[in-house]
Amino acid sequence: MAKNERWASRVGLVLAMAGNAVGLGNFLRFPAQAAQNGGGAFMIPYLVSLVVMGIPLMWIEWTMGRYGGGLGHHSTPGIFQSLGKSRAWKYLGVLGLLTCLGIASYYLYIESWCLSYAIYSLLGGFSAEPPAAFFDRITGQAPNEVFAVSVPGLVMFAVCIGINIFILSRGVAGGIEVVAKVAMPLLILFGVVLAVKGLSSHPDADPNMVESPWIGLNYIWEPDYSQLGNPAVWLAAAGQIFFTLSIGMGSIHCYASYLRKKDDVALTGATTAWTNELCEVVLGGAILLPIAVSYLGLEAVRQSVAGGSGFGLAFMTLPTLFNNWGPAFAPLAGFLWFGLLFLAAITSSLAMGQPVMAFLEDEFNFSRVRASWALMGMLLLLAVPVAMIHEQGVFSDFDFWVGTFALVVFALLEVILFAWVFGIDRGWEELMRGSELNVPRFFYYVTKYVTPAFIIVILLAAVFKPSVGWDGFFGSIGSGEGVPAWEWAGDSVIGKILHKDLVTPEGASPEVVSYYESLRSIRTYDRLGLIGIFLFFSALVALAWSRKGTQERGTPA
Ligand code: TRP
Repeated sequence: MAKNERWASRVGLVLAMAGNAVGLGNFLRFPAQAAQNGGGAFMIPYLVSLVVMGIPLMWIEWTMGRYGGGLGHHSTPGIFQSLGKSRAWKYLGVLGLLTCLGIASYYLYIESWCLSYAIYSLLGGFSAEPPAAFFDRITGQAPNEVFAVSVPGLVMFAVCIGINIFILSRGVAGGIEVVAKVAMPLLILFGVVLAVKGLSSHPDADPNMVESPWIGLNYIWEPDYSQLGNPAVWLAAAGQIFFTLSIGMGSIHCYASYLRKKDDVALTGATTAWTNELCEVVLGGAILLPIAVSYLGLEAVRQSVAGGSGFGLAFMTLPTLFNNWGPAFAPLAGFLWFGLLFLAAITSSLAMGQPVMAFLEDEFNFSRVRASWALMGMLLLLAVPVAMIHEQGVFSDFDFWVGTFALVVFALLEVILFAWVFGIDRGWEELMRGSELNVPRFFYYVTKYVTPAFIIVILLAAVFKPSVGWDGFFGSIGSGEGVPAWEWAGDSVIGKILHKDLVTPEGASPEVVSYYESLRSIRTYDRLGLIGIFLFFSALVALAWSRKGTQERGTPA
């Protein structure tokens, strides 16, 4: 049973936790976000968000997890309930299961692309077939088509789910930890080979290069203070910190709950956060952008990631660019790149699955194998809509609601629970128990005041964003043009609810009109589906706790 599981070694724990955090976010999302938000201009808000929000939340999640684990809870409903007296906390903790499951449903899909791409690269496929054609082949995407499937794509998706389930069924130490110990060093090796090769190429030696790769690298590393007052850059930076550290999702709590009561969390937690940053800023910044910039130029790269996620560059452009490295090395380079993405992804998707399994094991006494079958069932059910209605559909909608918005809500709840309900003094004492790092007192105050205030601002800005963007909004007030007419941004929470991002283009053909109509109704259903999952887990929580009797387990007396 999950209750008795433990990490086998400290190194294994650190690698598993680093594997949890290091994912597609580091190698795809980070370079794209940095490029969209002005490179060096992005990095300052990014580092500030790391210090005032990322690191404190990381410590909160580790501490909460170890505390709940000591009381036999390894998923957030039980962990939240262990810290808070009100019965509502266990239901709020359900958000931690919904997020993990929801993100897993589309994250595993991208993971399966990485696997397909890695194999196809190694076979030399991209020397003949353009990557975009391959992409359409494995996703079945076609313009203006709502339902599109690709049988090989679905098979690979199912294979990926199967691999994850198999590893999870072997347990925390026997599965997750073993995989992390192999995958993490390998991933770093692959990354270093690509970074060295990319950065050592020179336009003089390669006529297809338009620029030195160092231009792409410098773009991130050159500090630029001009954008410090731009709220859009701050929002993007804070969002990236959330996603990349896997915070606000109930996943770190779960991994930390397999610690012993006296095991250090302060130093180990900080170590994994810094490992993630190393893999993001140093390694993640040294591959995609430098290679792409050296062959396409900075401006073209910035345009290609505008409003996007880096998928285009990674899956459509890079395999072609590798062909410049010669017919012998290109297949290997493609394999290293997509292999790296796959390894980064799988150590993260395992971290999304484990909380759901732990929930079933702790609260319903499921065996590990039975819990893994249950998880597989849930993932397969979600996989179908994600894979069928891909572009602008379920995939991106889940990414918005559970991959971007829910995290912020969850993080606000947990910081309130930790610093104000449980109490910062007790919380601090918990953090320092067995600690090998003397956390500066500075963080005591940051955690109590700055982190919650910071998250509240982010939340409000995301809910109420105007269509001109916050920078545009304040910009026009500042320039004396007065307050611009209010229109909800398509990517604001309210804008999403009103489908402002799916307005049928004017003068569209009947085909396109009906395409948009279908997309809008599909989104209504997928949101109802997410609410349904929330209610389903809430019902399970109610059932589990009522079975345990009136004496609520784990509630501090
Ligand atoms: N941090 C991961 C990355 O950078 C992604 C991620 C998002 C994640 N949510 C998660 C990982 C939940 C584990 C659990 O790609």
